[in-house]
Amino acid sequence: MILAFLFSAGAKLLLLVTCCIIYKLKVQCCPEVCLCYNEPKITFSCQQQRLTVVPPYIPIQTQRIFLHNNKITLVKATSFTSCQNLTILWIHSNNISHIESGAFYGLTKLEELDMSDNYNLKTITAPTFRGLVHLHTLHLNRCGLQDLPPGIFQGLYSLQYLYLHDNNLHFLHDDTFVDLGNLTYLFLHGNKLNSLSENVFSGLINLDRLLVHQNRLDMIHHRTFHDLKKVTTLYLFSNFLAVLKGEVLSPLVSLQYLRLNANQWICDCRAKSLWSWLKSFKGSSSELECYLPTNLAGKDLKKLGINDLDGCANISFHSIKTSPFSAKTSLSIEEFSDSCCQPAIDKSLVPGTNTKSGPSSHTSRILPNIPIKDKENISKTKIIGNVDHRKNRTYKPINYTPFATFSSKLDNSLTKLNQNNDFDSVEPSTVPNKKRLPCLKKVKSKSQCRMYQPGTNSGLLNFITTNLLYMTQFFMLQMHF
Ligand SMILES: *[C@@H]1O[C@H](CO)[C@@H](O)[C@H](O)[C@H]1NC(C)=O
Ligand SMILES: *[C@@H]1O[C@H](CO)[C@@H](O)[C@H](O)[C@H]1NC(C)=O
Ligand SMILES: *[C@@H]1O[C@H](CO)[C@@H](O)[C@H](O)[C@H]1NC(C)=O
Ligand SMILES: *[C@@H]1O[C@H](CO)[C@@H](O)[C@H](O)[C@H]1NC(C)=O
Ligand SMILES: *[C@@H]1O[C@H](CO)[C@@H](O)[C@H](O)[C@H]1NC(C)=O
Ligand SMILES: *[C@@H]1O[C@H](CO)[C@@H](O)[C@H](O)[C@H]1NC(C)=O
Repeated sequence: MILAFLFSAGAKLLLLVTCCIIYKLKVQCCPEVCLCYNEPKITFSCQQQRLTVVPPYIPIQTQRIFLHNNKITLVKATSFTSCQNLTILWIHSNNISHIESGAFYGLTKLEELDMSDNYNLKTITAPTFRGLVHLHTLHLNRCGLQDLPPGIFQGLYSLQYLYLHDNNLHFLHDDTFVDLGNLTYLFLHGNKLNSLSENVFSGLINLDRLLVHQNRLDMIHHRTFHDLKKVTTLYLFSNFLAVLKGEVLSPLVSLQYLRLNANQWICDCRAKSLWSWLKSFKGSSSELECYLPTNLAGKDLKKLGINDLDGCANISFHSIKTSPFSAKTSLSIEEFSDSCCQPAIDKSLVPGTNTKSGPSSHTSRILPNIPIKDKENISKTKIIGNVDHRKNRTYKPINYTPFATFSSKLDNSLTKLNQNNDFDSVEPSTVPNKKRLPCLKKVKSKSQCRMYQPGTNSGLLNFITTNLLYMTQFFMLQMHF
C-alpha cells in the first residue's frame, strides 16, 4: 500500500518535471538572460542585461515587454510589430539613436511606451506613433530631442501623459498637440523654448498640468492659453519673462498653482495688468521678483502697491535678455516714457493696501498625487522584482526651488504612491509563486504553465523542491487513511 503510494507520487513528480522540460524545449520560453511569465500579463522581461539589440524572438502573445537599462541602439521595423497584443513597452535607459519607420505600426493596444533616457535619439519622424489609438502614456524625456515634427502626435486621442522634459527643444510648431483632447499632463520643462505662439497649445481642452519652467521663454502670445480652461498647475519659473499681460493668464479659469519666479520681471506700468490679475487670483502663486527698475529690484511684484508701478522705464527688451546685468546698471526709473504704457487700470477695483502678502508660495508643497487611471494597475509594474532599478531609487519630494530639476524624480511619486500596496500578490518576482503549481497533471495551455528562467537553475530547483514538499504532504495525508 505505502509502496504503491510512494511509486505513484514518484511517477507523478517525474512526469511533472519531464512535462516542463519538454514544454520548455517546445516553446523556447525565454532567452537565457530574460524572465518570462504569464501572470498577471504575458510578460517578456530582459532588463539590465547589456543587450545591444532587441531579442529577435519575442512570443507574439506578449502583452508587456521590459527592455530597459540595456544598450540597445536601434528599434527595427520588425522588432515589436508582431506582438499585436502589446500594451506596455519599456525601452527606456538604452542608447537608441534610431527608430525605423513602422516600428510601432499596428500596436493598437499599446497603452504605455517609455523611451526616456535614450540621449542619442535626437529626432523622431512624424509617423512613428501613428495608429497608437490606445496610448495613454508616452515618455520621451531625456532623449536629446531637437525638434518635434508637425503631426508627430496626430491621432493619439487617448494620450493622457506626455513627458517631453529635459530635451533640446527650441521651438514647438502650432497645433503640435491638437489631437490630444485627453491629455492631462504635458511636461516641457528643461528645454530651450524661446516663445509660446498663439496655437501651440490648441486642443488641450483637458490639460491639468503644464510645466514649461527652465526654458528660455521671453514671449508668450496673449492667446497661448486660450484652450487651457482645465489647467490647475502652470509652471513658468526660471525663464526670461520680463512682461506678461494679465489677459494672457485669464483663460486659465481653473488655475490653482502658478509659479512665475526666477524671471526678469519689469515692475513698471507694463506690470499693472499682471499685478491686478494676481490680486484677483484665488490660487497659490510664487513670488515674482522684480528685476527692473533698479529701485524695485528684488521686491515681490505682488507686494508692491499699484502706485509703485506708475511710469514706464525706458528699457530695451533686447538688452534685458542678452545682457541683463549691464542693463540693470545702466537704466533707472528716471528714464521714463509713457509711450509703452497700457491703458490705466481702474483703480477702484484695486485694494487700497498691500500690507497683506499674496497667497503663500507653495515652495514646500509636493505635487498632488498622480492619479492612477491605468486600467491594468500599470503603475505597479514599475516596481517589478528586485531587478527594476526604479524600485531602488529612493523617493525624494520634488524640489520646488527655482532651479529644481525634479524631472528624473517624478516617476518616483508613482512608486511612493504604491508603497502601501501589496505587490507580492499582484506581481510575480524572480521567486516562483509557491501557490501556483506549474504543469500539474496535464498541460492544457501555455498560460497554465509558468515559464522559468532557464539561465538560472533556481527556478527549476525551486519548482522541484516545492513540489516535493507538496507531494510529501499529500503523501502523509494519504497515509492517515
Ligand atoms: C490577443 O488577445 C486576444 C484577446 O485576448 C486573443 O484572442 C488573441 O489570441 C491574442 N493574440 C495573440 C497573438 O496572442
Ligand atoms: C551609444 O551609441 C553611440 C553610437 O550611436 C556610441 O558611440 C556610444 O558609445 C554608445 N554609448 C554607450 C554608453 O553605449
Ligand atoms: C478620449 O479618449 C477616449 C478613449 O480613447 C476617446 O473615445 C475620446 O474621443 C477621447 N476624447 C478626446 C477629446 O479626444
Ligand atoms: C530711451 O533710450 C534710448 C536709448 O536706449 C534713447 O535713444 C531714447 O531717447 C530714450 N527715450 C526716452 C523717452 O528717454
Ligand atoms: C488594482 O489593484 C487594486 C489593489 O491592488 C485592486 O483592488 C484592483 O482590483 C486592481 N484593478 C485592476 C483593474 O486590476
Ligand atoms: C540599491 O542601491 C544601493 C545604493 O545605491 C545599492 O547598494 C544596492 O545594491 C541597490 N540594490 C539593488 C537591488 O539594486
